[in-house]
Amino acid sequence: MTGADDASALHVDLGARGYDILVGPGLLDRAGALAAPIMRGKRAVVVTDRAVADLHLGRLRGGLEAGGIAVEDIVVEGGEETKSFDDLRSLLDALLDRRIDRATTIFALGGGVVGDLAGFAASVALRGVDFVQAPTTLLAQVDSSVGGKTGINTRHGKNLVGSFYQPRLVLADTDTLATLPPREIAAGYAEVVKYGLIDDPDFFAWCEGHGRALLDGDAAARREAVVESCRAKARTVAADEREAGRRALLNLGHTFAHAAEAAAGYGGAVLHGEAVAAGMALAFDLSVALGHCPAEDAERVRRHLAATGLPADFEDLGLADRSADSLIETMRQDKKAEGGALTFVLVRGIGHAFVARDVPAEAVRQILARRGSASGRLEKTVSA
Ligand code: NAD
Ligand code: GLY
Repeated sequence: MTGADDASALHVDLGARGYDILVGPGLLDRAGALAAPIMRGKRAVVVTDRAVADLHLGRLRGGLEAGGIAVEDIVVEGGEETKSFDDLRSLLDALLDRRIDRATTIFALGGGVVGDLAGFAASVALRGVDFVQAPTTLLAQVDSSVGGKTGINTRHGKNLVGSFYQPRLVLADTDTLATLPPREIAAGYAEVVKYGLIDDPDFFAWCEGHGRALLDGDAAARREAVVESCRAKARTVAADEREAGRRALLNLGHTFAHAAEAAAGYGGAVLHGEAVAAGMALAFDLSVALGHCPAEDAERVRRHLAATGLPADFEDLGLADRSADSLIETMRQDKKAEGGALTFVLVRGIGHAFVARDVPAEAVRQILARRGSASGRLEKTVSA
């Protein structure tokens, strides 16, 4: 382990490509000392977006320089549209203009957009240079910075071009979450809940007890959520790095979510985590409809999403007017789909997810046709 006094340290066990995840406050200020042991040289190029540059680049720069590391930076625009071929080309040109070499380490400072884009660039620049994830959103700290999925979006859909390329280190500085807007915190929280719903009912119960405090700014709850989420993700990635089996469970809610994001147009109207929240509720509904899951579990999930202000339906996402057929067509193009069949992560209950291939389109259509808002449906359930 790299080690840091008051940081929680986890390890992603992938043999020679294994790496540490450090979680705690103040890590950016100590980035040089923390990263030096895994760096081939003394040169870092930080890739970040405009908003994060204003807020946190100074601390990372200072932390690296204090460790004797020379720092340059490249600031990209930010937002989901930045995960594009054009931005990838510009970033690669900017890296090559700076004459990076194989001893240079790229630091991805930002949310999932910066992490996915910079990680992909690192995987192809000079056929692969080392990179460090320094995630600054809750979503990136609990999910996207761990596991080595990198990539960009294309006109065919999200994340359809990319690579599996593991970082050398993850520095999740929980202080950065203090500047994150509440809507982004809530979106990241959906991915926290996801770990409980997949295979850890006790963690879902923890979410029910602590979710509200986490959203309201409780630093201890945030840190615990990041540590437990990273522990779950590290375990899954170590068991199935390239998603041949168990890792696919991390896509709970994602078949619905990717269709929602495509329908909303990636412009920020629907955040990834918001789409995942609604997608998880709908995956529970679909599981109930197909006879796999008790209705009480689906209701309990909806109740928690409502209590934490998360969307639980396409209507909550402002997408009630989209036709079921067009949404289903997008679902057929999902990476998980094989031969055009509909693939979903379904559940036998809270904490018992499984992959279902060839889900009947009619069942999905019926779920999508039930367009009552989450809160409306919850009221009906509770008063019934
Ligand atoms: P994001 O990177 O767009 O960040 C959200 C917004 O918050 C941006 O405007 C950003 O500038 C701002 N921001 C970031 N950190 C901040 C901070 N500390 N204070 C204030 N503002 C801050 O979005 P995201 O939700 O972090 O990531 C979403 C992306 O992650 C999607 O593209 C999704 O596909 C991807 N993703 C990837 C994986 C993976 O395994 N690679 C997993 C899940 C999601
Ligand atoms: N976010 C899903 C995965 O990393 O596999």
